[in-house]
Amino acid sequence: MSNRVEIESDILDFKENIKTKNNKIISFIQNENCLITFWADGSESYFDFLWLRDNCPSAFHVSTLERSFRLLSIEDDLKPTKIILHEASLEIDWSNQDNSIFSYIWLWNNDYSNQKKTSSKKSNLKTWDNNHKDKIYKKKYTTLNSEKELYKWMKRLHTEGIALIECMPDEANILEKTVSKVGHLRGTNYGLVFEVKSEHSPNNQACTSEELTFHTDHAHHEYTPGYQFIHFIKNEAIGGESIFVDGFKVVERLKKEHSEYYYLLCKHSINFHFHDEEYDVMTQKTVFEEVDGKVVAINFSPHLATAFQIPHDIMRSYYLAYRCFMKMLYKPEFLIQLKIESGDLAAFDNQRILHGRRAYDINTGNRYLRGCYIDRVDFESKLKINNHRLNN
Ligand SMILES: [Fe+2]
Repeated sequence: MSNRVEIESDILDFKENIKTKNNKIISFIQNENCLITFWADGSESYFDFLWLRDNCPSAFHVSTLERSFRLLSIEDDLKPTKIILHEASLEIDWSNQDNSIFSYIWLWNNDYSNQKKTSSKKSNLKTWDNNHKDKIYKKKYTTLNSEKELYKWMKRLHTEGIALIECMPDEANILEKTVSKVGHLRGTNYGLVFEVKSEHSPNNQACTSEELTFHTDHAHHEYTPGYQFIHFIKNEAIGGESIFVDGFKVVERLKKEHSEYYYLLCKHSINFHFHDEEYDVMTQKTVFEEVDGKVVAINFSPHLATAFQIPHDIMRSYYLAYRCFMKMLYKPEFLIQLKIESGDLAAFDNQRILHGRRAYDINTGNRYLRGCYIDRVDFESKLKINNHRLNN
C-alpha cells in the first residue's frame, strides 16, 4: 500500500499551530490507562501510558535515532506517580522509577487521539485539468545545476505530478546521471533503463508504433515505481504525441458523480501480468488504493490486466465502473496532449498521472526514447532532506 508524504505543508501547519494558537497543555487528568490533556486552544487529547513510555525521548538511541527501549521491560500496569507541567514540556515520573519528558510540540504533533486534527491537514498535491497544459513546469537542464532550482523543480513535480526538463545535453547516459540527482534508479524487468523504439518483435506495446492508451507502468510489480522519467532523445516522426491526465482529478469527479463505481474500484482487486521469455510476474491490486478516504495510488494498465476474477454478481457493475473511469480519462477537459521536443525529458508520478501516446508513422522520422524509474519513498526522502538543508 502506498502512502504520500506532505513535504512543506506539514511543517507550515505545525509551525502555525504552535506559534499562533499557543498550544500548550494547561491541565490534565488521568484515568486507568491514559493521560487526558487539556490544551490552551480548548481541545483535549488522550495518551495511553504504554504509548507514552514506549515513545519517551530516552527510548531512542542518540545517534541511530532508532528505538532501543525494550517494551517488555515494563509491566502492563505501568502508571505515572507524578506529572508536572513545565513551560514547554510535560514531565512524568513512572511507577517503575523511570522518568520521561515530552515537549508540548511533540505531543501536539503526535496526537493520535484527535482525528480531526490529523484529517484537517491540507494535502499539498495540486490536481489539474486540461488548463494545466501551458502551465506544466519546465526548466532548462543547465539551470538545474543550482541546488535551489533543482529543489524547486522536484517540489513542483511532487505537487503537480508532472514536470519537464528542456535541452538535455547530448551525452551518453545523461538520463541516468540526471535522475540520480533526485533518487536511486529503480530496477525493473527492463533493467535500470528501458528504451522505446519500434521493434520487429517487441515484448511490450510501447515498442510498436501503435497508439498507447492511458495506463500506469509496472502495475504488475509488487511495488510499483513511484516516478517515471522519459528522455525524448529523438521525437521526429509524425504523430507520437504524448498524452497525460491527472488521475487524481478524474478520481475526484468519479467519486462525486458515481460514488458506487469509486468504491468498487477501491474494493475489488484484479491481476496484472507481464511475461516474456525471461520474466513472468503477476500481482494482484485494486485499481484505486485508498488511505483515510483519499486515493493515494492508481493501478491502471488494461493491456496487462488478466481476466477479472470478481464475484459473478459484481462483475457487471465492476465493468461499468472500470469503463466509466476509462472513458473519463479521455474527456477533453482532463486530457493534455503535447509533442515533447527532441532533447527534452518528461517526469511524472507514475501512480497518479496516467500516460499514453498517439500512434506515429515510423517512416517519417526517428523516434527514440530512454526511460527509468525511481521509488516514491526515495524521491520524497531527497525532497525532505533538501527542504531541511535549504530552509535551515
Ligand atoms: Fe508506459
